[in-house]
Amino acid sequence: MDSGTERRAAPQRRGAHRARLVSVALLTALAVISCSGGVTGTPGSSGAHDRLFPKLGNDGYDVQHYSLDLDYDPATGHLVGAATIVARATKDLSAFDLDFAGMDVRDATVDGRPAAVNRAGDELTLRPREDLGKGATFTAVVRYSGSPKTLTDADGSQEGWLRSPGGGVLALGEPTGSMAWFPSNNHPSAKATYDIKVTVPDGLQAVSNGELASKVSNGGRTSFSWRVKEPMATYLATVAIGPYEIDDKGTTKSGIPLYSAVDPGVRQQAAAVVARIPDILEWEEKRFGPYPFSSAGVIVAPEKASGYALETQNRPVMPLDHFDTSTLVHELAHQWFGDSVTPAAWRDMWLNEGFAQYSEWLWSEDHGGATAQQHFDEEYAKGEGDEIWAFPPADPPTAADVSGRPVYVRGAMVVHKIRGILGDQKFYALLQAWTRAHRHANASTTDFTRFADEQAGEAGGKLSAVWDTWLHGDGKPDSP
Ligand code: TRP
Ligand code: ZN
Repeated sequence: MDSGTERRAAPQRRGAHRARLVSVALLTALAVISCSGGVTGTPGSSGAHDRLFPKLGNDGYDVQHYSLDLDYDPATGHLVGAATIVARATKDLSAFDLDFAGMDVRDATVDGRPAAVNRAGDELTLRPREDLGKGATFTAVVRYSGSPKTLTDADGSQEGWLRSPGGGVLALGEPTGSMAWFPSNNHPSAKATYDIKVTVPDGLQAVSNGELASKVSNGGRTSFSWRVKEPMATYLATVAIGPYEIDDKGTTKSGIPLYSAVDPGVRQQAAAVVARIPDILEWEEKRFGPYPFSSAGVIVAPEKASGYALETQNRPVMPLDHFDTSTLVHELAHQWFGDSVTPAAWRDMWLNEGFAQYSEWLWSEDHGGATAQQHFDEEYAKGEGDEIWAFPPADPPTAADVSGRPVYVRGAMVVHKIRGILGDQKFYALLQAWTRAHRHANASTTDFTRFADEQAGEAGGKLSAVWDTWLHGDGKPDSP
């Protein structure tokens, strides 16, 4: 079963939404009042204008690099953190916002000088001593501590800092949860490189994204320093802490080093699937183009650790209750579709899930299972009232819908329609050109449809009906 099937829609929580809007208004008013006398910059806004998540992300600066220093005590659940954020002002700024949920902020500096700190809801506002001029690169340091939160999403699933009964931790961030453990510009359009250092008691592992640059023990504690060289969206950042068994032997056929972490309680069941990673990546490279990152692997978390799998960059998290080859194919496909080519906004989520879901169908077809056409037909047979027709894949109506069935299944059906029109050769050429053109960057649905139209050449005209009916149209399309 794919991961999407397991994500269920929960009722929307509109009340919570309204409360947050009020706090924005207050914060904006405060910022305006305190901005006086000789100051030319204005505060950056507390959102990146995402229609589905208006408060997420921030305007006015562009983060290049996060350096996170996290010291965690599993016995108490206490985290002491420092985030060093290197960014460039995209306008004259008197203050700027970071997304940060919970935790106590001890202090903050901008370019080495103390900055005023204000908190309202999930917004952390820093006001430097002096304005930041447009184009200036600056370094902000935020020091904080506390017990990081677990967040409940609009669709009812849990993310943020998930603690398991054994004292282990799994930090997951789609769509918003990274702000539970570090302050950030928390929007997929704001990709950056990272250094993530995690210090835990000796005997535990701390696994994150990228490559392990060093592991140093001192006074009973071990620091794991991870380096993420390729840009990463905040929602793909992860930390897994626990008595993991590390498998860092070997490479993919194309020479990418592997690093996987497996919870000892699930070692036996996980082994056979972990062993398939090189084969799956070899197949995906043939279909999607060169693997986009410097390392690969998987984090096999304890059963029920999260309730879903997630395509965390370099090494997806796969709790054992979501561990099968098809889900692994899905999460590894996300390394191209989502992690390297990242949606410009949350409404573009079908560019992740439609392609990852379709990868499962392709894998099945290429490995003696049902063909993609059979999968398509099975879905198309579903009646008009089925949830897969509830909204167009490129236009999820609410935040709760970004993980909805239409995004996954009808998204995959869009990809299948494209394949049918182009034929296999042009279709795979399109996938490879797409992942190359937007490698390590962001792309929107419009970017995709334009790109596909151009790549399709003469067949391009026929795609517009797919966009109108399957991608943007309401209800079940009249013909398959
Ligand atoms: N991206 C995950 C997957 O398909 C599922 C998921 C977890 C998700 N959280 C989400 C999808 C939030 C959309 C939004 O493997
Ligand atoms: Zn997915």
